[in-house]
Amino acid sequence: MLKAYADHWGLITGASSGIGAEFARQLAGRGMHLVLVARRQERLLELAESLKVAHGTKCEIIVADLAEAGSAQRLLSEVASRGIEIELLVNNAGVGLVAEVDDTDITRVQQMLQLNIVTLTELTIAVVQQMLLRGHGGVINLASVVSFQPVGYMGAYAASKAFVLHFSEALWGECRSRGVTITALCPGTTRTEFFDHSGAPGWAEKNRSQDARTVVRTGLAAFDKRKQYVVSGWINYILSLAVRLAPRATAVKGSMSVCKPQKKE
Ligand SMILES: NC(=O)c1ccc[n+]([C@@H]2O[C@H](COP(=O)([O-])OP(=O)(O)OC[C@H]3O[C@@H](n4cnc5c(N)ncnc54)[C@H](OP(=O)(O)O)[C@@H]3O)[C@@H](O)[C@H]2O)c1
Repeated sequence: MLKAYADHWGLITGASSGIGAEFARQLAGRGMHLVLVARRQERLLELAESLKVAHGTKCEIIVADLAEAGSAQRLLSEVASRGIEIELLVNNAGVGLVAEVDDTDITRVQQMLQLNIVTLTELTIAVVQQMLLRGHGGVINLASVVSFQPVGYMGAYAASKAFVLHFSEALWGECRSRGVTITALCPGTTRTEFFDHSGAPGWAEKNRSQDARTVVRTGLAAFDKRKQYVVSGWINYILSLAVRLAPRATAVKGSMSVCKPQKKE
């Protein structure tokens, strides 16, 4: 539970585009000061400038590659050296990978798991420890609708998001009576740059999808109600329930017919 949004600090990873940039806009609209983190400095500078003009909030920028081992500790040291106490952490930075196993680049998988799982876990635990001492604060972790099932051709990505969901829900249980909220936000397909960087360009445009604004609104509403998770969009929610009832083989086979990558010429 937050002490307040206004005049407190939020840290958003992956703030340079998509859902992260939208979190920055909506949180600045609630009066939050923000630490914006990603690799693309220009994008962060532009966003920070526009938020300062629109909302008068303070914005700090930290350029960091969170797929590097040790990056979570380096980021938090930098935040502390700037005298900032984080009231809300949004672990949003994440990448996907759509490929047949024969064509899968192991280095990309390692970087993805480091970013989606290891850095997220290290940031969450370190920040939550501080929040528990203060008795307030919160974390929103970006999981996915694929957190609920194995997904053919996106096996490592979907499993990384299953980790995020389970890890976040477990911490929610531990922390809820101590003033700290952890919410896992599970979007379905969302129109961002995500699929362009994941080996499936144009996917969001070709399929049923939501915009980042709706996803972030849903996430913040659930966080405000101190929910442990939320699926964005009622069709996505029904799919997340249906997959629990379906035979597991059926779920995998179904995912493969949807996610099969296009063969390069
Ligand atoms: N779009 C969807 O359909 C969808 C669905 C479910 C869940 N999600 C999740 O939502 C989150 C946000 O994705 P999005 O859709 O907004 O995609 P996006 O537009 O591609 O944004 C990804 C963000 O992560 C940052 N990032 C990527 N690699 C990074 C690294 N090594 N170090 C630091 N930052 C890094 C990117 O910034 P830089 O490139 O500047 O570093 C960017 O700001 C992800 O966790 C994703 O898994 C997305």
